[in-house]
Amino acid sequence: MNPAAPVHLLVISGSSRTGSLNLALAREACRIAEVQGATARLLDLRALDLPLYDGDIEAGPGVPAQAGELIAAIAAADAVLLVTPEYNGFPPPLVINAFDWMSRARASGTQPAGLKATAGKPAGLLSASPGPLGGLRSMNYLRQYLQMAFAMIVHPRQFALSRADQAFDATGELKDEKAREAVTGVVVSLLQLGAALAAPRGE
Ligand SMILES: Cc1cc2nc3c(=O)[nH]c(=O)nc-3n(C[C@H](O)[C@H](O)[C@H](O)COP(=O)(O)O)c2cc1C
Repeated sequence: MNPAAPVHLLVISGSSRTGSLNLALAREACRIAEVQGATARLLDLRALDLPLYDGDIEAGPGVPAQAGELIAAIAAADAVLLVTPEYNGFPPPLVINAFDWMSRARASGTQPAGLKATAGKPAGLLSASPGPLGGLRSMNYLRQYLQMAFAMIVHPRQFALSRADQAFDATGELKDEKAREAVTGVVVSLLQLGAALAAPRGE
């Protein structure tokens, strides 16, 4: 492994709307990661425009190509940060659907199978909500799903941003220093885990 190589962080947004609070938080996490010397890529799951999982699509045309985009992005990352709202105390369907599709993708050419790309990959969790708990209720479900079904190594440190509708200034940065410190703590911990577990890159 080249110790000088920057850690590459994939930041995934799981929101389904324009003006998303979680997308704003994901952008903030990317900026924080870059300040730490990492490279960061933001992937908006909504933009992938995956259809709802359908066994007939899988059996016919096959797993949609967009699932391959997600697999390639995860495979290229040293760590994955999921920034997502909760719906009724659960991870939103956009996230579960994308990961479900990914779990059905077999290896193709140089691209690994979906479950191979996620196995052993460090992951971190952030959420944002206008509510008082900031999406906290869904995080244990998401943690369990990523660990149990995808063999990801989910870092114990997580943060749920409450009152997120009042949390960002006009430039999209977090106003509250304590919230910024909490996000930084999650990002830095995940980068450290990613660096520690990084597979040898190109050597
Ligand atoms: C179907 C649905 C269920 C929701 N359930 C919750 C919830 O359980 N907890 C919560 O804090 N907010 C809940 N919300 C509100 C979301 O947190 C809010 O819409 C938030 O802005 C979504 O994140 P985004 O801005 O990144 O899209 C729910 C919203 C929808 C549409």
